[in-house]
Amino acid sequence: MSMRLESEVSIITGSTSGLGAATARRFAAEGAEVIVTGRSAERGNAVVDEIQKDGGAAHFVACDLGDEASIQALVRDSVGRFGRVTNVVMNGAATATETGERSLSITELDNEILESSIATNVRGLLWLLKYSLPALLAAARPAEEATTSIVAIGTSGTRNGAPGMPAYWATKAPVEVMMRSVSSEYGGRGVRANCVSCGLIETESELGAMTSEFREMVLGMNALPYLGKPEDIAAACLFLSSREARYITGTTLCVNGGASF
Ligand SMILES: NC(=O)c1ccc[n+]([C@@H]2O[C@H](COP(=O)([O-])OP(=O)(O)OC[C@H]3O[C@@H](n4cnc5c(N)ncnc54)[C@H](OP(=O)(O)O)[C@@H]3O)[C@@H](O)[C@H]2O)c1
Repeated sequence: MSMRLESEVSIITGSTSGLGAATARRFAAEGAEVIVTGRSAERGNAVVDEIQKDGGAAHFVACDLGDEASIQALVRDSVGRFGRVTNVVMNGAATATETGERSLSITELDNEILESSIATNVRGLLWLLKYSLPALLAAARPAEEATTSIVAIGTSGTRNGAPGMPAYWATKAPVEVMMRSVSSEYGGRGVRANCVSCGLIETESELGAMTSEFREMVLGMNALPYLGKPEDIAAACLFLSSREARYITGTTLCVNGGASF
């Protein structure tokens, strides 16, 4: 059976842990050459080792999404290493757990949290689009089909609002509109852009921060009686990045157990 990402070269940001690491493992298992990236070389190289042990191809490139030059270097080094880039999964983000605003209300917001959220989640998103699009366009074959693709990870909380975490919601909301914007500008040149909007997913960082009350509250709003796993997001990213999604662009796929919050 042919693998679904054979001959693809995929940058997956924030793949040193959580959803990004699961997506990197899945993409490599489907034949992609994967660039694992994040700030932590130790965790990134551990993901690379795991992929290589399973027979996949992966390479770690350090990148701080809060730094324009670092993002530019990520794309340059990835093209230098593998010759081209055909997919980008924009997953890395300053989460509310990382910035420490998980239980903050808007009246408690401080400038440090806001600045680091804007730097990584908004500027980082835009700089990564700016520097990766030329590489994707160089790899695109628009006359055949839109084979090159961007998938950005959004969050379902930005669709309906939820209490607390104001900097997180405000800086994750642009993900969906930027994917629609890129899809309309670049579809004719062979690049698709879609969003995967996540509900609560049991990553290590979420499990570490989640109270049992919070878990029960989310389950109470889900149509399905269980929470998502990192592999559920990896599967959605795989589908949207594969040729099976060749006629899908500018859309948001909600992977949230039917959450109604
Ligand atoms: N888990 C959920 O329930 C959930 C729900 C909705 C949306 N999401 C979204 O899913 C994505 C991943 O979340 P997760 O739960 O997997 O979190 P996670 O395990 O904490 O992973 C976050 C990743 O982002 C990277 N990252 C953070 N800041 C960075 C920076 N400045 N530069 C480069 N990389 C950076 C981290 O790498 P380093 O530490 O190595 O830099 C890490 O690999 C995020 O976009 C989040 O908003 C998650």
